[in-house]
Amino acid sequence: MRAIVIYASCEGQTQRIARCIARTMNVRGIPTDTFNVTERDVTGLAVESYEAVVLGAPLHYGEHESRIASCISQHHALFAQIPTAFFSVSLGVVSKHEQDREHARKLADDFLRERRLDPSRRACFAGALRYSKYGWLKKQLMHWIAAKSGAPTQTDRDYEYTDWDAVESFAGDFAEFVHGCRQPKPKRPRFAPQVNRIREYLVPDASSSSP
Ligand SMILES: Cc1cc2nc3c(=O)[nH]c(=O)nc-3n(C[C@H](O)[C@H](O)[C@H](O)COP(=O)(O)O)c2cc1C
Repeated sequence: MRAIVIYASCEGQTQRIARCIARTMNVRGIPTDTFNVTERDVTGLAVESYEAVVLGAPLHYGEHESRIASCISQHHALFAQIPTAFFSVSLGVVSKHEQDREHARKLADDFLRERRLDPSRRACFAGALRYSKYGWLKKQLMHWIAAKSGAPTQTDRDYEYTDWDAVESFAGDFAEFVHGCRQPKPKRPRFAPQVNRIREYLVPDASSSSP
């Protein structure tokens, strides 16, 4: 049995999370591969050869990665039959405003509902602000978003918000779930079980034995 984490990542944070999930699942006895749909076309992947799938998508401009959406549409029938998990990566989930946090979680739920995917496990993880990787325009935009949501606005360094303990516990929990799905069901007896009847020993009736 093998599992796979299929993910998209623009600035690398979802990739780090995907790799952490795969490492944790490996440690928990589920050999797990990773596949980055941002770098390679998922149509070349034999998804059906896996018995459990984790999907990970970052949030950019209010949308989860379309390549993960296509992967779900493509393998919808398979994903309905095997254990699946989903994680969303965003900054909204660590905003100082409750409504932003709520909105980020809602976007993840909507994303799944619209694709009729009901994963066994789902999570929203905080991503990173990688000012060093943004071009000029993206840096201005992220600086503005950061200021609005109470995140740091110092653009000469990067910030990581991911709670790695939460990621490991998500992966560990899913690994347990997958193990549970693998447990062979107890065999039903082919015949009705033997009931240990209490034998009744009759004491011979003294009167009947009389000549
Ligand atoms: C251009 C851009 C747009 C973003 N838009 C959103 C957004 O709409 N909502 C949100 O919560 N986070 C947003 N983020 C934050 C990303 O979700 C976060 O940086 C995440 O770590 C990105 O994952 P990645 O490094 O795997 O691409 C945005 C980040 C960038 C760079």
